Amino acid sequence: MRAMRQAISSGTQHLRPVQDDALSARYVEIGLAVREAFRTPALRETFIARLKPHRRLIAGSVPAGIQQHGLLPARAATCRLSDVSDADLAQWLVDDGRLIYGEFTQQELDNYFNEMAPYLPPKGHFIDLGSGLGKVVMSAALAFPGLRCTGVELLTYRHEMAQVRLAEMLAAGVAENRGVAANVARRIRLVQQDMFDADVSDASLVYVYSTCFAPLMDRLADKLARELQPGALVTTVTFPMQHPAFELVKQFSPPSVAWTTVYLYRRRSALDPLPAEPPKFLYEQDSAAWEYAVRAAFAAYDATSGA
Ligand SMILES: C[S@@+](CC[C@H](N)C(=O)[O-])C[C@H]1O[C@@H](n2cnc3c(N)ncnc32)[C@H](O)[C@@H]1O
Repeated sequence: MRAMRQAISSGTQHLRPVQDDALSARYVEIGLAVREAFRTPALRETFIARLKPHRRLIAGSVPAGIQQHGLLPARAATCRLSDVSDADLAQWLVDDGRLIYGEFTQQELDNYFNEMAPYLPPKGHFIDLGSGLGKVVMSAALAFPGLRCTGVELLTYRHEMAQVRLAEMLAAGVAENRGVAANVARRIRLVQQDMFDADVSDASLVYVYSTCFAPLMDRLADKLARELQPGALVTTVTFPMQHPAFELVKQFSPPSVAWTTVYLYRRRSALDPLPAEPPKFLYEQDSAAWEYAVRAAFAAYDATSGA
């Protein structure tokens, strides 16, 4: 087991290939326009005016995609921010946030699985929505020998990296203990899919690393409320899931499990009526604080770019 754990222990700092394929052409086009407005002093008031009304959609102050570690290619913009509609800009900000990558450390995952162990049925189904490089799915399969473990990831390159990582883990396992490796292999499934299309109906525990999913929390809660069986568990990270179909079982404040809060919910009885419309509990960033942070980011960019 030790070799298998080692094979999946890193990934947060993986190289992000730029997203420049047909699937993400619109993401790139809008992203380049947003980045140009951020970098060009004459366009910065437009940047602030256009993004400020949508600041609740931004994870932090400056969208991740236009920063150094973002997924955008190095080329110049082909359209102006002023040509991008408000609706397209809002959607771009949601897409940009949810594609940010992050993983718990192995220690944090161990803490998490220790806390979950008393709540899990011996032969359940664990699903990671937005599974990235698959570390959580594979670690869950190692931690719980009776659990089927599924990862659902949207981005092709991350799904492919997860498959490579799984193959590496299994190869390490075969050398160590063929029987254990075969058992783990049977229980892991990695799927490339939009999490909103994923079938979660037989899940015992759904894991969502939701730190950058603030604008998606209500939609996610609504999907889970409609599809999960009574008693099914959900954990979210950083952001709570505020929906009447779920009761909060436990809140793990940092640093008990991880650097950020982990919330554990249970789907209430199927008899509870569900609201026709999902509730709206989006988080709001203070307007002046956001603008202050953005202007500081302009200055930091100028200082490093030699402008
Ligand atoms: C913060 S990472 C977490 C990765 C992994 N769950 C972990 O904890 O190690 C979130 C992942 O969700 C993926 N993602 C974002 N939106 C998605 C969607 N609609 N469907 C599936 N995956 C999505 C992102 O590409 C990213 O890999």
